[in-house]
Amino acid sequence: MNYKMLIHGGKPLKGSIDIQGAKNAALPVIASSLLLRDKTLRLRRVPKLQDIFTMADLLRHLGASVHFKDNEMSIFVPEELNWETPKSLVRKMRASSLVLGPLLARTKRAILPLPGGCAIGSRPIDLHLKGLARLGANIDLVHGAVHASAETLKGSKIYLDFPSVGATENLLMAAVFAEGETVIENAAREPEIKNLIETLNLMGCPIEGAGTGTLHIQGIGDLEGGEIEIIPDRIEASTYLIAGAATGGDVTVSRVIPEHLDAITAKLEEAGVGIEADEDRVRAFLKDPMKSVSLKTLPYPGFPTDVQPQFTALMAISEGTSIIQEGVFESRFLHVSELKRMGANIELQGNTAVVSGVRSLNGADVRATDLRAGAALVIAGLSTPDETSLFGLGHIWRGYERMDEKIRSLGGQVKIVVSEENGDLKW
Ligand code: UD1
Repeated sequence: MNYKMLIHGGKPLKGSIDIQGAKNAALPVIASSLLLRDKTLRLRRVPKLQDIFTMADLLRHLGASVHFKDNEMSIFVPEELNWETPKSLVRKMRASSLVLGPLLARTKRAILPLPGGCAIGSRPIDLHLKGLARLGANIDLVHGAVHASAETLKGSKIYLDFPSVGATENLLMAAVFAEGETVIENAAREPEIKNLIETLNLMGCPIEGAGTGTLHIQGIGDLEGGEIEIIPDRIEASTYLIAGAATGGDVTVSRVIPEHLDAITAKLEEAGVGIEADEDRVRAFLKDPMKSVSLKTLPYPGFPTDVQPQFTALMAISEGTSIIQEGVFESRFLHVSELKRMGANIELQGNTAVVSGVRSLNGADVRATDLRAGAALVIAGLSTPDETSLFGLGHIWRGYERMDEKIRSLGGQVKIVVSEENGDLKW
């Protein structure tokens, strides 16, 4: 069956919504359970998303029992595990590579076909592999799959050339059973990594430096099970705050950690949006006409690349010219051609988008080419009174729980319908 999202925009989004648990925190935390032996890890606030289902299937394939109901997940990991991950699952999602570190540490070997994921430029895993080699692993590439093995991993000092989120997570998990201390320098500082470190600490592995660029991991022999809550999804929260601003509305996101949204709220304020925050809520409301602002995406605490497409959509209808530089990925502007179909005036110069704001966009048939590009098109559709048909919804369901329901609860007019067109857009 093919589906599309029909968006009838032009109405200010107003109200408050609860934010889901963070996809990008849940994925590594779920992968970390592979370090357990005959124990259970329980997780609360796990979002019901396609990527999470894929990770759960991957763990089941490796031998774990995974139960997932009402945003709670319980993972029992037996003594015996498989170490070969299937191409069919790994190809669906780049984050499948997160099982490499824990699997190698736990079973002494792992086979991982090179992963797939969003179409946002070349995304190698060389830093993961270099780090694992520093811990003493033998790494070979055989017919497009990584073969990793190590009788024992040895604690070591690893310097990351770039603070890669996935490499930091994989190496943290691999270092848990390494002999002695591992130090990761130039580690990523994203809040999702802190959530993973909390989980590993809870399971009994001492790790210091969470939230900083230097992590110290003391290798240990075995771990305990436990229970942990996934942090709020700062990317989902940012998406709804921007959608509120783009529609001239007034949106409050609840159950968030406001500090995690600082880079976005600072830019929204600069653009003329009113921001109010308390302990676990952030409100964004239009105060003045939207002004263009410029930005560059950077690793945390910089402006997140995962919010760049949504912010580009907002700048497309702001007054003035905005320069948006992508500083994390090699190419992440697939949403630009679709926004242009909706009347946006954007010129691409390498890894920079020059966005000249227009008064309003027009409706069009557009297609999500990756997860956050899809979110940008939803925002663009909500900003115009015309009708927009969004195809490629499978990308959206990878990262947004009940997005259509949440938008309707804010007064937006969107519905998912079966579509005869674009027959190739199965999900
Ligand atoms: C994670 C997020 C993703 C987000 C990204 C950057 C998850 C599941 N996904 O992805 O949503 O967009 O962080 O915030 O958490 N790189 C290399 N070699 C490597 C690893 C990375 O060159 O071995 C490059 C990548 O190609 C990319 C950049 O480093 O250009 C950032 O990648 P990384 O931080 O690793 O992102 P992911 O962990 O894949």
